[in-house]
Amino acid sequence: MKHLLKMSDLTREELFHILDVADELKADRKAGRPHPYLAGKTVALIFAKASTRTRTSFEVGVYQLGGLGTYLNATTEMQIGRGEPIQDTARVLGRYYDGIMIRTFKQSDVEALAQYSGVPVINGLTDYCHPCQVLADLQTIREFKGGFEGRKACFIGDGNNMANSLIVGCLMAGMSFTAVCPEDYRPAADVLDYAQKFPGKFQLCTDPKEGAVGADVLFTDVWTSMGEEAETEKRRKAFRGYQINEEVLALANPGCMVQHCLPAHRGEEITAEVFEAHAAEIFEEAENRLHAQKAVMAILMGGK
Ligand code: CP
Ligand code: NVA
Repeated sequence: MKHLLKMSDLTREELFHILDVADELKADRKAGRPHPYLAGKTVALIFAKASTRTRTSFEVGVYQLGGLGTYLNATTEMQIGRGEPIQDTARVLGRYYDGIMIRTFKQSDVEALAQYSGVPVINGLTDYCHPCQVLADLQTIREFKGGFEGRKACFIGDGNNMANSLIVGCLMAGMSFTAVCPEDYRPAADVLDYAQKFPGKFQLCTDPKEGAVGADVLFTDVWTSMGEEAETEKRRKAFRGYQINEEVLALANPGCMVQHCLPAHRGEEITAEVFEAHAAEIFEEAENRLHAQKAVMAILMGGK
């Protein structure tokens, strides 16, 4: 494993190694045991989009690993925002930093950064995928459910970055998966192709009540993602009914978990009642961003 660019780059062994290290680092932190795998190392944290969880969990995570993280705003502060090519930015940052995390729009920019920088690159979200979030989600599911085999995951909403990474991650981990998306908002074609490698384990449908039946974990995400704000009204209409609510949850298995990457829009993709009833799982998921990303950095840059 040289980078974390998208879930499908990982082998099953690499995925489980990340999850195991994430559990170990979580236990270390809870016990107050130092774990300085990045001692003396530096990580550039590039953001071309807003963030609460990703920015803070990476900054805190690098520090807890003994390294230095530098927050870089790609829109208002870096020369990328004024047109400097990503290839040139990559070749400069690769000479200063031991690794780079980037949140941006185009997946191709993340791939270029990896190609030209010469240091490990971690995808902190693109329009195409969000692998760091899905690693935290899988860590949370394993904590609450004890494992993945024989479990069913269901995603209700936009077939976007979260859906794309969840489909790959959950299938790779051993779960079955149902994606419930409107016809015009399906997951990426290459992700649907990837799912074909798991015969009988993947389903795509348009009815939340059909998809939720027998689920052990229900996921959703915002109807309007970052960068799509101009489509907000159109999307409100297209996604009406694509919501995790009591009625949908009643069709899932008893004890079904609810996961949301956050930020959440109560009354849109999830009701306030369901959100609050499952807040313990949702905020454990948010906490696990810290542990899962520390695991990725410790493996990529700390020899773990
Ligand atoms: N879930 C997530 O990535 O949150 P932020 O946008 O706050 O980083
Ligand atoms: N799909 C959302 C995820 C936010 C973490 C977005 O891209 O805005």
